[in-house]
Amino acid sequence: ATILMVASEGLPFIKTGGLADVIGSVPAALTEQGHEVSVIMPFYKKIKDKYATKFNDVFTFKKEYNVSIYYREIPVRIYSSEVDGVTFYFVEHQGYFERDELYGYNDDGERFGYFQKAVLEMLNQLNYWPQIIHCHDWHSGMIPCMIKECHTDDYRYSQIKTVFTIHNIAFQGNFDARILDPCLGVPYYLYENGSVRFDTGISFMKSAFVYADKITTVSPTYSQEILTPQYGEHMQSVLNMRKYDLWGITNGIDIKLWNPKTDPDIYENYDLVNVKEGKKANKLGLQKELGLKENPDVLLIGVVSRLTWQKGFYLLMEQLSALCAAPVQVAILGSGEKDIENKFRDLENGNKGKIAFYKGYNEALAHKIYAGSDLFLMPSLFEPCGISQLCSLRYGTLPLVRETGGLKDTVKPYNQYEKTGDGFSFEKYDSVDLMNKINDAVNVYYNKPEDWDLLVKNAITKDVSWQKSASVYTTMYKELLD
Ligand code: ADP
Ligand code: GLC
Repeated sequence: ATILMVASEGLPFIKTGGLADVIGSVPAALTEQGHEVSVIMPFYKKIKDKYATKFNDVFTFKKEYNVSIYYREIPVRIYSSEVDGVTFYFVEHQGYFERDELYGYNDDGERFGYFQKAVLEMLNQLNYWPQIIHCHDWHSGMIPCMIKECHTDDYRYSQIKTVFTIHNIAFQGNFDARILDPCLGVPYYLYENGSVRFDTGISFMKSAFVYADKITTVSPTYSQEILTPQYGEHMQSVLNMRKYDLWGITNGIDIKLWNPKTDPDIYENYDLVNVKEGKKANKLGLQKELGLKENPDVLLIGVVSRLTWQKGFYLLMEQLSALCAAPVQVAILGSGEKDIENKFRDLENGNKGKIAFYKGYNEALAHKIYAGSDLFLMPSLFEPCGISQLCSLRYGTLPLVRETGGLKDTVKPYNQYEKTGDGFSFEKYDSVDLMNKINDAVNVYYNKPEDWDLLVKNAITKDVSWQKSASVYTTMYKELLD
């Protein structure tokens, strides 16, 4: 099929989280299955800065036109770039997108309203008519509605099928209903009749649940969880009405980008054959770089994460003294909520040489932590899929996760009797259970090294690629077009 993916971020251009990993890797996997995939995203300042010196080598100007926002004609400039056979389009607008951050502004409804209108008008301007528009998260959530309600008399639009993928139902794109008509061009009666209404305003994501032909999310377990009040973030009733069109398709990762054998960012390359020595060398490198006591034999726990409530770090906070007493080192990379950052900063200050906290976003250091750690900690409160645990598996680092969402689907817990598994997991959102599980891992690491080695082997050989899931997407696209 010909597919246009609409997303707010994607590698290699711009990344703030797992969505960018997905948008940077699933198109290539689908291309291998015979699909023709393009991607479109906003042309952020951060992308322009990153490619400043080679702008003209990377981007081609395609087209200029206007879309109407609040009764004014606002210019759109489209650029494109080719990456491994996939065309990436960029919507340029200085005022809306050339700001320091990607999201979190008061006018996000208008910014992404403009983006979505620009995307739909681009089809007409470039005379490019994909069979499927595949939207990702709330930033493109109005597109199915715009196609079905605002382009009904144009066959070129109305024949397009739409897919909406939920990467995180906690971020919904909820705005004042007053932006509907003048900004989005969507008639106000769709608020009055409930189609796009959510609570007392409108919701981009809820609109997608009403209008998209298929809805997917990024793991089978999460696809069930979001039908319940505990995980549904007040969207569970709408979603239940669509549950026969809801698919749970587990994310993969780009196994070329994430490959300990060729990774240019890590201290020493390795694969299954020399995983033990390779990981030790990387551990030493990491200890040196982060100011941890150099010791190849200590169990090193890694964390690479947005530091937000979603990721379960409040559980860890309740166990800091137990953690400090355990025979482990901890390397944390991340930024986010100030109280979590401050706690980690204090923890490092009180435990120099044992605990290291690097505040910020640093892709090269992330690779080094995946390679140099023995255990990767991800005790999430909820987790639609999770990319980080897949990266750790790929580097022979055992994930320790809470059994929720994609973490449950992708990590097989250690079974001491059957000698199976590739990580550790606990079920209840309870800090004592978390600490008990860390202690279990400590015990296996020091007292049952043969079992540990087996788990590492299972982890590093696990298939975390897109191959299986790409064929599930293909099945879904087929069903849609038949
Ligand atoms: P989420 O998208 O919810 O943040 P995922 O596990 O799906 O979580 O994806 C997170 C991605 O972002 C992973 O590729 C991870 O390596 C990366 N990442 C998270 N925090 C940082 C950071 N501080 N520096 C570098 N990479 C990070
Ligand atoms: C979201 C989710 C994460 C998922 C990612 C990519 O950021 O929080 O669990 O892996 O999207 O689908």
